[in-house]
Amino acid sequence: MYFSEDLIEEIRLQNDIVSVISGYVRLQRRGSNYFGLCPFHNEKSPSFCVNPGKQTYHCFGCGAGGSVFSFIMQYENYTFQEAVHLLADRGGISLPQEEYSEEVRRERDLKTSVMELNKTAAKFYYYQLRSPQGKRGMDYLKNRALSDETMKHFGLGYAGPDGTLLYRYLKKQGISDQLLKDSGLMQVNERQGMYDKFWNRVMFPIMDINHRVIGFGGRVMGDGKPKYLNSPETVVFDKGRNLYGLNFARSSREKYLLVCEGYMDVIALHQAGFTNSVASLGTALTSQHATILKRYTDEAILTYDSDEAGIRAALRAIPLLKEAGVSTRVLHMDPCKDPDEFIKAYGADAFRERISRAENSFLFELSVMEKSYDMKDPDGKTRFFQAVAAKIAGMELEIERENYIEAVVARYQTSYEGLRKMVLNTLMQGTPARTASRSTVEREHRERDRRGEKDSGILKSQRLILTRLVEYPALFATVSACIRPEDFSDGLYREVAAMLYGQLENNQVNPARIVNHFTEPEQQRQVAQIFNTDLPTETVGEQEKAIIDSIRLIIRHAMDQRKAALDPTDMKGLQDWMTESKKRQDDLKGLHISLPRGKE
Ligand code: CTP
Ligand code: MN
Repeated sequence: MYFSEDLIEEIRLQNDIVSVISGYVRLQRRGSNYFGLCPFHNEKSPSFCVNPGKQTYHCFGCGAGGSVFSFIMQYENYTFQEAVHLLADRGGISLPQEEYSEEVRRERDLKTSVMELNKTAAKFYYYQLRSPQGKRGMDYLKNRALSDETMKHFGLGYAGPDGTLLYRYLKKQGISDQLLKDSGLMQVNERQGMYDKFWNRVMFPIMDINHRVIGFGGRVMGDGKPKYLNSPETVVFDKGRNLYGLNFARSSREKYLLVCEGYMDVIALHQAGFTNSVASLGTALTSQHATILKRYTDEAILTYDSDEAGIRAALRAIPLLKEAGVSTRVLHMDPCKDPDEFIKAYGADAFRERISRAENSFLFELSVMEKSYDMKDPDGKTRFFQAVAAKIAGMELEIERENYIEAVVARYQTSYEGLRKMVLNTLMQGTPARTASRSTVEREHRERDRRGEKDSGILKSQRLILTRLVEYPALFATVSACIRPEDFSDGLYREVAAMLYGQLENNQVNPARIVNHFTEPEQQRQVAQIFNTDLPTETVGEQEKAIIDSIRLIIRHAMDQRKAALDPTDMKGLQDWMTESKKRQDDLKGLHISLPRGKE
């Protein structure tokens, strides 16, 4: 659903950023701002700043920032749409109702009904487990070392040996056979008619990220087959899109998610304090799962079973995750089969230690590959390194290839030059041309961000000017006489500058509105950063000088860029450039900036 900018603005006005964020972070007033411990990274002293004047937040530690919408998106892991809904609710603003076609409405109604039915069934199983009839289930789960609290948290239940108990219960409530069929809770067969799909099992309700029950898994309490039985796909249950435990893991503060194979693994891990664990249930990880995971994290640690099947599953999952932009490490569980057993045998601290030693996914792939070569034979070894070189040659970034060459050299004690040449040869032999796709460029940007490299002084100067214009709109006349929005070098900055100039011309400075114009969280973060560039310790005189220096730098940079873009044979263009350059130098001559004294 599309919301107009006016509506977004109305919602924002009803949600003062200080009051919204106070609901999540303890804020303390300092001058005209509020400070607190950043909820997006671990820190001991507060560098998370909320600015009521600008209605933005910005962390000087980790660079997080944005408007009240991006805060909700970041904190709750919501999409922009979801954040709009939450804040509209909070502000008491009703959103326009979408117009649905008859068909869409019917499907939506069916989904609601199935979900309600699932909830009823989940409650039914839940109370069964805690009733005297549920003793067998309770004993089984206790025996698996689950606490009452954990069972409650995950809503575990029990389906008794009578295969029509739930059916009769639901019929008594007047549920139609059709709905029962649609819910996947029942089985139909000609002889017996309709009966419960799950009986004589402990029950695991499967929830979507909003804690709504969308299906069930049921485990036999012993060695029967099949070990697990799962709900079939229904209007609300799509296995390829749901991850068990994500409803809790989504709000864990850990940077990475633990991805494992089963219900019991997730539950055992959460119980041991690893609330960032999820599992794909009864299916291999899909690319849809990977895309969903990307919404919550940049890194997955695979904690798959240590058997052959687990290794194969990991090898399949790694490229899917990589494709979605999630980097992967692989945790070694040996000598245990799965996380549940590991925790039971060695405890949470040992598991944490395994996490810290989880293997880079590429090196994991190599160690699997290695097994199919005879590494004692010189030829076998050469062929192995050729295969390694081919894999490295397939990487997009040179720095990435370089890093992996080094890692392989370190692990296999081989010659750096030798491997490097192999990689180069493979590259020359014309593996598909690597054009710098958009995503490559973006990835490089992200990499640079991650490495904490400072962006060039030019961007900082541009940010400083935009920040100051918001704070001191009176500067606009002077600044706009020298700098035009087109002079800003980066696409995003140019767009922000154009919008801010528009607001300043109308005497309506509103940075939060500009932040909200962008719907991508990363863009919102950058825009908030643009408006929060500060050099707090400087005197007013120094600040004035910094503004003048920045203006000069921006103009010089813009003119350089314009010149670089000229065709060297374009005499007319060059002439024009020189004229303009001269004029702009002149503009700068009388430049004088004066900020109000005695403020703050
Ligand atoms: N699974 C399934 N159907 C089966 C077996 C397994 O759907 N017949 C799914 C379940 O989601 C299960 C996961 O695959 O949790 C992993 O299977 P497995 O490793 O066999 O089970 P564990 O999670 O180890 O379960 P437990 O510890 O209870 O044996
Ligand atoms: Mn297990």
